[in-house]
Amino acid sequence: MNEFKIYNKDCFAFLKEIEDNSVDLIISSPPYFIGKEYDTSKDFGDFLDIHHKLLPELIRVLNFGGSICWQVGNHTKNGEIIPLDSLVFAAFRCDELFLRNRIIWTFGHGIHASRRFSGRHETIMWYTKGNDYTFDLDAVRVPQKYPGKRHYKGPKKGEWSGNPLGKNPSDVWDIPNVKAGHIEKTDHPCQFPVALAQRLVKALTKKDDLIIDPFCGSGTSGVAALLEKRNFLGCDTSKTYCRIAEERLNATLEGTVRVRPLDRLVYTPSATEAVAVRPPHFSGFIEEENDND
Ligand SMILES: C[S@@+](CC[C@H](N)C(=O)[O-])C[C@H]1O[C@@H](n2cnc3c(N)ncnc32)[C@H](O)[C@@H]1O
Repeated sequence: MNEFKIYNKDCFAFLKEIEDNSVDLIISSPPYFIGKEYDTSKDFGDFLDIHHKLLPELIRVLNFGGSICWQVGNHTKNGEIIPLDSLVFAAFRCDELFLRNRIIWTFGHGIHASRRFSGRHETIMWYTKGNDYTFDLDAVRVPQKYPGKRHYKGPKKGEWSGNPLGKNPSDVWDIPNVKAGHIEKTDHPCQFPVALAQRLVKALTKKDDLIIDPFCGSGTSGVAALLEKRNFLGCDTSKTYCRIAEERLNATLEGTVRVRPLDRLVYTPSATEAVAVRPPHFSGFIEEENDND
């Protein structure tokens, strides 16, 4: 049986207790000055400062060949966008970490903008400690678009050309975000979906490895870790979120946790479904309503 533990404390106190080179994967979405009640950083100077301070501790606890996956979105202020991954990129620039992918997590729903394009993506900065790192591509392959394709010339002419295990999922991931009505929704205001963490866990770690999340919120990274038979340590300053995380992680070990499966395709309504039929007064483009972010 794999194990987990949730600590109700500050991320720095949590990291201090972890041994050097003992963690295989750090997955986290840090708090960022977006007006959530839990946010301590008020502007992007604070955000940078916290990241500069975190970096040596993250590197210290991470095993050689291990990974950091840092999930962030955009901050919008007075209609202007601050892409937080650009701040993470600046703060995490060092000799020990190598950026392998800037994964685009795209989703179909959110606030409708009226003076810019509606925001429908966030990013995950994936770093490795060193060049000799775990990456199990076969564990996360997805179905080919044209599985029946064959080589049309050369010595392999006529043979199937695609990998029978599927193709590389690429660095753009279309996974529904956790809004009201999503099967994984808890009382946490800012969860990422389990599938997002689960693909990272499967590709970047092995069975029984140790995964940590220093800002674990509702414990999503831990759900992914336990589902994939890895161990997990999480931390959050909020008692309420720690309780939610513990409940979800116990439910995961008991096999009762509610999760949207990683391989479920994004729902496309059929053309005849009532909500997909265009009303007669819609002649062409559809006007969106308002922009309140
Ligand atoms: C963006 S949320 C993480 C959500 C999480 N990924 C999930 O799926 O539920 C950031 C979390 O960091 C916590 N937090 C804020 N400051 C913290 C600190 N100094 N140390 C530890 N946790 C902190 C907040 O309470 C919040 O739950």
